[in-house]
Amino acid sequence: MRYNIQAQTVLALETSCDDSAAAVVRREEGQIQVIASNIASQDGMHAKWGGVVPEMASRQHLEALPFLVRQTLEESDLEITSLDAVAATVAPGLAGSLMIGSITARSLAALHQLPFLGVHHLEGHLASVFLSPDRPSPPYLVLLVSGGHTELISVNSFSDFNRLGRSHDDAAGEAFDKVARLLGLPYPGGPSIEKASEIGDPDKFSFPKGRVSRPEGGFYPYDFSFSGLKTAVLRQVEKLNKDREALPINDLAASFQKVVVDVLVERTIRCAIDKDLTSVVLVGGVAANKLLREVMTKRANDNGVNLFLAPKAFCTDNAAMIGAAALIRLESKLRSSSLELGIKPRMPLAEAGLLYQFPPPF
Ligand code: KG4
Ligand code: ZN
Repeated sequence: MRYNIQAQTVLALETSCDDSAAAVVRREEGQIQVIASNIASQDGMHAKWGGVVPEMASRQHLEALPFLVRQTLEESDLEITSLDAVAATVAPGLAGSLMIGSITARSLAALHQLPFLGVHHLEGHLASVFLSPDRPSPPYLVLLVSGGHTELISVNSFSDFNRLGRSHDDAAGEAFDKVARLLGLPYPGGPSIEKASEIGDPDKFSFPKGRVSRPEGGFYPYDFSFSGLKTAVLRQVEKLNKDREALPINDLAASFQKVVVDVLVERTIRCAIDKDLTSVVLVGGVAANKLLREVMTKRANDNGVNLFLAPKAFCTDNAAMIGAAALIRLESKLRSSSLELGIKPRMPLAEAGLLYQFPPPF
């Protein structure tokens, strides 16, 4: 197989959940440039059900991906033969969805004698900050907030991650989605709640900041719990309904959003200070939230912490971030993945290095 040590241009696919995405990214003089990036969103289809229907998601990937790949290569003005590698998300995510992206990328790599990289989805989110001109250098602390994960991760080198905090129940994005549904706002919930909050009073309702108790007493300082908050919003809605009051959707949304943002910011800054990490990185779908970006910026400034935000356009799932992660792996390890690598619906980020082993772990 051709193996280019100067690998610089990658075609990346992302199909771990409900969006099909393809991108071409290039590493040039230490910067990662997005040459083309396309997303075929399935939001409209899943909105009817209030969440993602896995079987429908995989079928939709199967239909969308060939056209998305062709469009992305055309926009890049590149022949597939001038690429240096093909990458796809292989873990974690919905099995059927992951399979479509992985088989497409592996077929292209095999046909065109290109290296293949199987990328961990969360490593992709972590790499999204490198799509910004303002790039952090390790060590730093990452708050990764998406629909499936809420984690505080210390990054010691580009491929050495250590989880310091996590949610014990719902992820922050999941809480946004569930509360939006409860308030009758459309899926995905994050952007709907953000919009409804614009004209709402964030101090109208006082909702709890969930904490996770330690068996030996006290609380885990960097962990999160959002299920109690979701229940508190539900109880408030039930009470208002019982009293036959019109639901103040905007105030409920704004009060909910405020408490989620406060909790995320407080615990992140606390963790950075305690662990002597002077840089914080914000990534994942919820990182697109305007209030979260504003409050985190302010609190980081107040505490002398350097903040790096993933570009808003690359916070929610996209393939450019998967390409960025692949470029960083190629640069640091000069390694690709086996063409025999499968997919894995559940896999902790700390195990991402296994995806570059020969023989592959699955
Ligand atoms: O990273 P992502 O696209 O997919 C996962 O890997 O999960 O994150 C999707 C999540 C959804 O729960 C969505 O409601 C949330 O991110 N989200 C937001 C915003 N945009 C997307 N949450 C709050 N504010 C937003 N503006
Ligand atoms: Zn994601």
